[in-house]
Amino acid sequence: HAADAHRTDLMTITRFVLNEQSKYPESRGDFTILLSHIVLGCKFVCSAVNKAGLAKLIGLAGETNIQGEEQKKLDVLSNDVFVNALISSGRTSVLVSEEDEEATFVEPSHRGKYCVVFDPLDGSSNIDCGVSIGTIFGIYTLDHTDEPTTEDVLKPGNEMVAAGYCMYGSSCMLVLSTGTGVHGFTLDPSLGEFILTHPDIKIPKKGNIYSVNEGNAQNWDGPTTKYVEKCKFPKDGSPAKSLRYVGSMVADVHRTLLYGGIFLYPADKKSPNGKLRVLYEVFPMSFLMEQAGGQAFTGQKRALDLVPEKIHERSPIFLGSYDDVEEIKALYAEDE
Ligand code: AHG
Ligand code: MN
Ligand code: MN
Ligand code: MN
Repeated sequence: HAADAHRTDLMTITRFVLNEQSKYPESRGDFTILLSHIVLGCKFVCSAVNKAGLAKLIGLAGETNIQGEEQKKLDVLSNDVFVNALISSGRTSVLVSEEDEEATFVEPSHRGKYCVVFDPLDGSSNIDCGVSIGTIFGIYTLDHTDEPTTEDVLKPGNEMVAAGYCMYGSSCMLVLSTGTGVHGFTLDPSLGEFILTHPDIKIPKKGNIYSVNEGNAQNWDGPTTKYVEKCKFPKDGSPAKSLRYVGSMVADVHRTLLYGGIFLYPADKKSPNGKLRVLYEVFPMSFLMEQAGGQAFTGQKRALDLVPEKIHERSPIFLGSYDDVEEIKALYAEDE
């Protein structure tokens, strides 16, 4: 069909979100405005990532963040871009970033009804070698008109109203859920617009890939060790699983979402709470997984039911295809 081939009726991300919002008569377009500022941040970071080697954006910034990690130049740049984009949207009150020790409270003149938690650049270790990296975000609504506090973001993931990530990969893709499924948009660089290319993504019920940093195996607990052993040496006649591990959560979760399988960042003896941060890594990705028909588990409970006590809190995480996560849940249940 000629119209298909030329794609003359483009579903941009803005059009898509406006359509969704028109179902709510009380909606005043605040979310659309917030999202368009997030999209601007993603486009800026995408462009910076693409020319990193040319624009001297490779290497360390010289500071260490609250996580004890050396910040890369692109971590700092991306953080500044998103903080500015979110404040200038006029739709936020509290911001939590991986790169900032304290939450940012937006000045009254710029305040709005949303709180945004984000990892401005995920996969820092892959920046300098040109491997896929990303941005992760989660959005809460502010449910009162008093002075905002960190309590406004120390809420379980199941209270998020939207979550998403942007992957700076072989193409730039933004994957978003506002609680009505998961939808993927690809940046058309010639238009500077994200176009709906992956409507209503559903994760395969069962996968054949596992994704974990096996270098930590000597410090794993019993259930994780057993699970990975089963992936490699299945006893039930099923074929062994393939191992894929990029080391950028965005890339590993994106592949898991599209191809199926499981992503694990378990606890280990050195990091009893795992590595990944609850608010801006575990929650948004768990929200997307559930919306796509998969599951997300901490080793103890449904990940979205965690109630964080600190903004940079960490948690072990197992997420992906429904059946694969069922298996790891069974191993933890046996272990009790
Ligand atoms: P960040 O670059 O935002 O600090 O996140 C890094 C995270 C995540 O992207 C990835 O899943 C994980 O670190 C990889 O950790 P290991 O190097 O320990 O495998
Ligand atoms: Mn980091
Ligand atoms: Mn990260
Ligand atoms: Mn990061």
